[in-house]
Formats: sequence, C-alpha cells, structure tokens
Amino acid sequence: MEHFTLNNGIKIPKVGIGTNTFGKIDHNFSAPINMETKELLDAFSNGYRLIDTAIMYRNEMVIGKALKETNIPRELFMITSKISARVEYIRDDNTIEGWLNNSLMHIGSYIDLYLIHHPSEQNEENLRLWKVLESYYLKGHFKAIGVSNFNIQQLSYLIKHATIKPMVNQIESNPANWNHELIKFCLNNDILPEAWGPLDPVPNKEVLSKIGMKYQKSWAQVLLRYQIERGVVVIPKSHNKDRQLENISIFDFKLAPEDILLIEG
Ligand SMILES: NC(=O)c1ccc[n+]([C@@H]2O[C@H](COP(=O)([O-])OP(=O)(O)OC[C@H]3O[C@@H](n4cnc5c(N)ncnc54)[C@H](OP(=O)(O)O)[C@@H]3O)[C@@H](O)[C@H]2O)c1
Repeated sequence: MEHFTLNNGIKIPKVGIGTNTFGKIDHNFSAPINMETKELLDAFSNGYRLIDTAIMYRNEMVIGKALKETNIPRELFMITSKISARVEYIRDDNTIEGWLNNSLMHIGSYIDLYLIHHPSEQNEENLRLWKVLESYYLKGHFKAIGVSNFNIQQLSYLIKHATIKPMVNQIESNPANWNHELIKFCLNNDILPEAWGPLDPVPNKEVLSKIGMKYQKSWAQVLLRYQIERGVVVIPKSHNKDRQLENISIFDFKLAPEDILLIEG
C-alpha cells in the first residue's frame, strides 16, 4: 500500500474501502443492521486499512465488531467516520458531543479521521460544529479531522475562521462528475481530496476498458489509478472479495499522458 500525507503529518492509505451498505440486510442502505462482518474481514485480508463509515450509515458498531474479530493491530487501521451538519445532529454542543461520543463508543477509544459529512448552508453553523471537532482533535479522540461535500466557498470560510485547517475533503468524483475545480482548490490548499463514488456512475466504461487492455487492467483499476496519480484518495466499495482485491491492485502500473487525456474525456 502507498500513502499520502495529511497536513498534520499523518499518513493515509491511497486506497480505502467504502462501507455504506456493509453489515445490512441484502446490502440495502436503508435496511436493518445484521452485524455481518464478512465484507470487512475480506477487505482486511485483501490489505485494506482505510475504512470509511459514518453515523448516517448506522454501521459504526459493525466496524467496531470487525476490529475486535481481526488479529490485525488496531494501530494499523485508519478508521474514518462522519457527522452531518444537519440540524438534528448539531442542535447544540451537547447534542453534537452525544453523537461524537457514540461514534467513539462503537469504534473504540479513538477515531483516526472524523469528517463533517454534509455542510449546513450556513457557514456559521459549519464553524460551530467544526469547533467541537477541533476540541476532540486537541484532546486526542480524533487523530485527524476534515469535511465532506464542502464546496470552494464553504471550504474558504472554514479555512479563514478555523483554528485547525481541515485535513481532508471527501467529495464525489467519477467520470459523470469529476469535480476538477474543487479538487484543484483542495490540492492547492493542502487539503487532501478523497473521492466517494469513484466507480459509480461510469458512463464511459468501454473507453476505460480499452485503455486498460494496454496495462492488463480493468476499467475500474484504470479509473482508480487515475485518481491516485492526481493526488486523490479513493474509497471504492465492493461486497465481492475478488473485486475488492482488483480495486486495491493498482500500484504496479502508470498511466501514459495520452491515456490520461482520454480518461478526462
Ligand atoms: N461523503 C459522502 O457524502 C458519501 C456519499 C456516497 C458514498 N460515500 C462513501 O464512498 C463509498 C464508495 O462510494 P459508493 O459505494 O457510493 O460507490 P462506488 O464505490 O463508486 O461503487 C460501488 C459499486 O461498484 C461496484 N464495484 C466495485 N468494484 C467494482 C469493480 N472492480 N468492477 C465492477 N464493479 C465494481 C460495487 O458492486 P459489488 O459490491 O457487487 O462489487 C458497487 O455496486 C461509500 O461506500 C461510502 O463509504 C460517501
């Protein structure tokens, strides 16, 4: 596994695994939790150490259970969770702390990376939530903090008013919505961009498969490789052990400049 470095010096794997339907009946996002850890244990044995969960996925306790079931030491993992800035999560500081303490209770004594999942439309509200995340960071409960789905304006406000600069912005990035401008802004400001939905939707699979033939790689591997080559962490999700392995096997080739132009369309 290769790593990027966050602006506080912590190393983060370039490839992680999304989990938003893990530990749920029929792998349905809205279905009840069944505490199944098979996909996670498969991912661990495939070499994944960056694991992406969130309060809204309702499966933080499934991640906590898998961490207890594996014999891989906790310190080798980088667990991400997130709190949304929607009103029910941030009514007052007690409410926020209740949710954050709940995440800690499920995942363990610390969480490696904690993000604001969705911004409020009001910058002041994002800042109010951010201040609580900062205090958990300073107390050592969170090893790194960041945001998700923040646009340039929302990020700029936070950078200007925060004591601690966000370390990550997790955003959608795939061929249907590359988010080029926002990614460039993050990179220029030393905030690591992380792509959610990196494999879905993908309207140009045929072009990508054709490029992949040159490297004996799949369309998915070409896409994921493109993102890490431009400095973006990827967190593809698969319930299938073979596809999990495929998605993490992207460190043995390099895309030629003409292929990058084709990928960017
Ligand atoms: N911050 C946010 O607002 C936000 C929003 C959405 C998602 N996320 C996070 O990002 C993670 C990833 O996003 P996502 O789950 O929406 O989409 P994704 O990872 O881009 O795509 C997942 C889909 O692609 C399939 N797939 C995976 N590897 C494949 C491969 N090698 N070849 C063909 N198909 C493949 C999976 O099916 P199989 O399982 O059958 O392989 C699954 O249906 C989420 O799990 C979540 O943790 C964050």
